[in-house]
Amino acid sequence: MNRNLPIIALDFATAEETLAFLQPFHNEQLFVKVGMELFYQEGPRIIKLLKERNCELFLDLKLHDIPTTVNKAMKRLAGLGVDLVNVHAAGGKKMMEAAVEGLEEGTASGKKRPSLIAVTQLTSTSEHMLKEELWIKNPLLETVVHYSKQAEESGLDGVVCSVHEAGAIYEQVSPSFLTVTPGIRLSEDAANDQVRVATPAVAREKGSSAIVVGRSITKADNPVKAYETIRLEWEGISQ
Ligand code: C5P
Repeated sequence: MNRNLPIIALDFATAEETLAFLQPFHNEQLFVKVGMELFYQEGPRIIKLLKERNCELFLDLKLHDIPTTVNKAMKRLAGLGVDLVNVHAAGGKKMMEAAVEGLEEGTASGKKRPSLIAVTQLTSTSEHMLKEELWIKNPLLETVVHYSKQAEESGLDGVVCSVHEAGAIYEQVSPSFLTVTPGIRLSEDAANDQVRVATPAVAREKGSSAIVVGRSITKADNPVKAYETIRLEWEGISQ
């Protein structure tokens, strides 16, 4: 997984819209994320199209079901040849272990299995929501760190978390464990529905392994310029 490239969240409704968005990037090497909206509309075709464009691919379907179902679904996803996939850590250790096994079984011999990360708590979740709606009585940070340890013990490669949690996670897991962080905004951008946000520079300082950026790029007046600004800030190159 190329950690230097910000992961662009391609939150579009169709393949046509997605390819039109990518066109001004020409042949630049990109790491992109396909989420539920686009995958449910286009299915495996969108993965094939993005692989033909030579993109590194995160398929963000956040699986959460009984272990057998997740195992079988992961076998299918491994067959698509994506680089990174995810589950909800709230599905528990048996489910996460079944996901790893499914990926291994579904990966063609001689190929590398897709990396697997677990969503700890969505970056749209606030402390208040965790207690009052999800009925989880432990503080958000403690919950995220606990879920991260469970993910590592289940053989996963990392977690999705907020930038602000990466430091506390690395006190409990090995340095090679990935912390993939959405909720990234340039300082002048709106937070939208995200609650726990940070800039690319802060993500770097706090030790994130990779950043996921959607609307700060896709809704920018000039997406290529916004992407380059974010990439340089993430790499620590001041402009
Ligand atoms: O537009 P924005 O930068 O907020 O997009 C963030 C992307 O990361 C979205 O595609 C969202 O589904 C995804 N994501 C997230 N929080 C998580 C996991 C994934 O925001 N915990």
